[in-house]
Amino acid sequence: MTTGHRLAGKILRDRRFGVRFSDGSYPVNGGLLPESFLELDPPDHTRLRRLATPAFSPRRIDEYRARVEKVADALLDRDEFDLIADFAAPLPISVISDLLGVPDSDTAEFANYGALVAASFDTGVTAEMAGANDKVLALFDRLIAERRRRPGDDVISSLVAAEAERKLTAQEMLGTLVLLLVAGFETTVNLIGNGTRALLDHPAQWTLFKAHPELAPAVVEETLRWASPVQLTSRIAHERVDGIGEDEMVTLLIGAANRDPEVYPEAYRFDVMRVHRPEHLAFSSGIHYCLGATLARMEGDVAFRALARKMPDLRQAGPVTFRDSVVIRGLRSFPVSR
Ligand code: HEM
Repeated sequence: MTTGHRLAGKILRDRRFGVRFSDGSYPVNGGLLPESFLELDPPDHTRLRRLATPAFSPRRIDEYRARVEKVADALLDRDEFDLIADFAAPLPISVISDLLGVPDSDTAEFANYGALVAASFDTGVTAEMAGANDKVLALFDRLIAERRRRPGDDVISSLVAAEAERKLTAQEMLGTLVLLLVAGFETTVNLIGNGTRALLDHPAQWTLFKAHPELAPAVVEETLRWASPVQLTSRIAHERVDGIGEDEMVTLLIGAANRDPEVYPEAYRFDVMRVHRPEHLAFSSGIHYCLGATLARMEGDVAFRALARKMPDLRQAGPVTFRDSVVIRGLRSFPVSR
């Protein structure tokens, strides 16, 4: 187990560590979700990640920003609401569905699935989750068949083209799509929820941000550091490294590393003016560095600016409830009024 920033970062970037045991097994997947490149070591990881990368290039994300702003503004046309259910969750759901090419008529099904997968991190796989999994795989199968007939400008279409060139198998394509869906749903909601709560709990910082909306990227980075949506990950030594034996698993406490006082002075303070050098580990580091980081940062930026602009008097309107999870740090509900 590591809690320090330097050691955690070093292990994440050390190619002598990977995500699989030497017998090829993976530590935590309950066997339900199709395998994805998050759960693979090179060379398969490299091959599959490369196929998904173009959709997340900074240029593509920039082009996409105006659409996200529209969604955020529309979601905020209300007075009393739950910040998680009515804003922080639907925004990334709508964004990733759009990016993948999931039609509006199927978005509710995918959203329900995302929520169940999220719950399964906390409760284990339930019968309800298994049923939803079958449904979503069937939905993806249908969308893939449609794109084979009529390609579009979306991630499913580009993966279908790669499959035709034998760059990935049908099963790997499904694994990639499910990963993007779950990663897109499950983390950004907590960046938006945790950041909004941090701002409301620190009125001077909220006031400063409202006067200087150009600080939005700083609010995003400080939220990622101070209230990291993904609190931990793990790596397995592929050979003996210092005191760690081959096939031993190391748990890396990202949330703790991001509050390491040796790296961040007054690490427990939420301070949007903080200089983040070195970068926090909220998006991990090394070859598995979050592929959606640019997208998530843009969504957070848009969400915080929209809240500051449209709801300058936003306040908490009841007690919050927390997600019951050691991996995911986030709120289940956050009643607010404008
Ligand atoms: C990987 C965090 C948003 C797609 C990761 C990892 C972390 C992370 C910690 C690496 C885990 C490890 O090294 O074991 C986050 C956070 C997000 C976020 C905190 C939001 C604030 C997104 C979004 C997408 C995405 C919006 C895209 C839809 C991915 C993918 C990987 C990944 C595809 C696997 C990368 C690889 O294995 O090479 N994310 N993520 N993430 N994330 Fe994100």
